[in-house]
Parts: sequence; structure tokens; C-alpha cells
Amino acid sequence: MRELGSFPAYRPRRMRAHDAVRAFARETVLRADEFIYPLFVKPGSNAHDEIASMPGVFQVSVDHVLDAEIDELLELGVPAVMLFGLPAHKDEKGSEAYDEHGIVQQAVRRIREHAPSMFVITDVCLCEYTSHGHCGMLDEQGNVLNDDTLQLLAAEAVSHAQAGAHMVAPSDMMDGRVGAIRAALDAAGYADVPIMSYSTKYASGFYGPFRDAADSAPAFGDRRGYQMDPANAQEGVREALLDIAEGADMVMVKPALSYLDVLHRVKTECAFPTVAYNVSGEYAMVKAAAANGWIDEKRVVLELLLSIKRAGADAIITYHAKDAARWLAQG
Ligand code: PBG
Repeated sequence: MRELGSFPAYRPRRMRAHDAVRAFARETVLRADEFIYPLFVKPGSNAHDEIASMPGVFQVSVDHVLDAEIDELLELGVPAVMLFGLPAHKDEKGSEAYDEHGIVQQAVRRIREHAPSMFVITDVCLCEYTSHGHCGMLDEQGNVLNDDTLQLLAAEAVSHAQAGAHMVAPSDMMDGRVGAIRAALDAAGYADVPIMSYSTKYASGFYGPFRDAADSAPAFGDRRGYQMDPANAQEGVREALLDIAEGADMVMVKPALSYLDVLHRVKTECAFPTVAYNVSGEYAMVKAAAANGWIDEKRVVLELLLSIKRAGADAIITYHAKDAARWLAQG
């Protein structure tokens, strides 16, 4: 590398003195077309229920309320949604997750019909659909059964693709699920449907508000038997490499902000399309501080999203997507 000049010949402030040179020197730029907005869909009609711990985020019914959300996102230039479902019924095996008339399947069909340009990604997991709130089937001792769960996840992914999902995103953290889902999609004629794997997902306290939003808290125990230990970074890279080998098209680091080091390593060491999930607890903290007037919400949100992108994210799943898109358009 060429040697840099030193003071007084090199004065970094010269490139900070004017908007124009600041723009020339800028290394990272946020764009609304790299945002993915999570949407919670529920049964019923005319439902637009704000989630208490996530101000500005709503559970919506699959009717004109959902249409309006989609229209708003497209107007703001946000091109993609990630769907989560609140099922009408829960049971031991999470049956509604892979029911062709399930809530997510209905929402996918509605969005595809209403707004063909919206890119629809579905979260593939069982925790919202099981009576016990765990991400897979249980044995008698309450342990999550890995290999028996794979078939259910594969059936769920296929049913989302049948409904018209553009992309499926398994978030359960069972071993081998990307390979099982890839094989099932291919066998069902969906070889062109890509998989965004929640490859590097930590057992995090930052999912608290989401579990209220999706009614998916485990009835007993926790998820440390399948989600990753927050202490581990190398293992995070290994998880991503494993999913790539099984056929993932994108990998993910989740949560984002406490794991920017992991995000950077996954992006640089795997050299693969990488998405970061700016999760519910991260959103809730910002909203709470902003509501108290303790931080400037716009500045802080744009800085946080920029830091996620700078660390290596190609796309960002964020509840701030609408606000951030609006602010970016204002310049
Ligand atoms: C489902 C799932 C969770 C989130 C996304 N998919 C919850 C969990 O794993 O407990 C969390 C998203 C967020 O906190 O915003 N498995």
C-alpha cells in the first residue's frame, strides 16, 4: 500500500470541509432498496393493532389493512417484506405453519395479487405455531427433536413457495434444515426459490418484544439448546459456511448491533450475500429513548443502520425501514 502523507502535508479535515468533498470521501451509503420490512399478519378483519413494546409496528389483518401497508412500503421505495404469522390455532406440531390455508400462506397470496412488484420473503419456523412455543417438535422430556423437525420445516417452506413466496427464510436453527428445505423445494418444482438462512442466530435477550408481537415465547425453558451462544464468533462463521454448503443463497447475522464483529467476519470470510437482522429489542430501545427526548431518533437510527451496512450487510431487516426510507428521501 502507498504510504500516506503525515501532518502537516496530509490534513484529513480538508475532505470534511464541504458537503461535496464529504460525499466524495464517503465510503458507505444507505439505500432504501436494501431494507426488508418485517410484517406480522393475523386472522380477522380491519385489524391494525400496535405492538406495545414496538411503537409504530402493527399486527395487521390480511385484507385492505395489509394492502395499505404494502402500498406505503412501495411508495417509500422499500422493496421487500418478511412475513411472520399469528395463527388462529396452535398445536404440538405447529400444523398451521404448513397448512395451505394458514395465515402466512393467505398473506403471501394477497400480496402477490395486490402488488406484484413487492418481494415476499417468509420466515420459516414453528415457534409461532406450536402450543409450547419452541421452534421444533418435542420429545417427552421437552427436548427439541432436530431430525423430526426438518420434515415439518421443509413442508412449511414448500407451502410458502406454493402460495407464491419469492424467498424462504428458515429461522429455527435446527441442524441440516437448509439442505432439507433445498431438497424439498427442488423436488416440489421450486428450484428457483432462494433460501435466506438465519445462519448465525444467537440466543439473545434482544428478541423480547418480538415474542410479544408474534406470541412466540417458549412456554418453558429457553432456546439455548438450538440458538447460538453470544460468546461465539468463530462458530458464527462456521454456521454460515455450513448453510452455504447446504445450499443457502444468503446468510444472516442476528441480532445486528451487538454482533457487528460477527457480521464483518461472516461477510469477509464467507464472501457471500449477507443480511443483518436489526431485531425488536434494538428497535424498542431506540424508540424508548427517543420518546423520552433523550436521543435524536432520526440521527441515531440512520447512524445505527449505517454502522450495520459498514460492518458488511448487503441488506438489512429492520422495523425502522419506513422511517429510514422517508428520512433518506428527504436527504
Ligand atoms: C422465530 C423468530 C424470532 C425472531 C425472528 N424469527 C424469535 C426467536 O427466535 O425467538 C426475532 C426477531 C426480532 O426480535 O425482531 N424463530
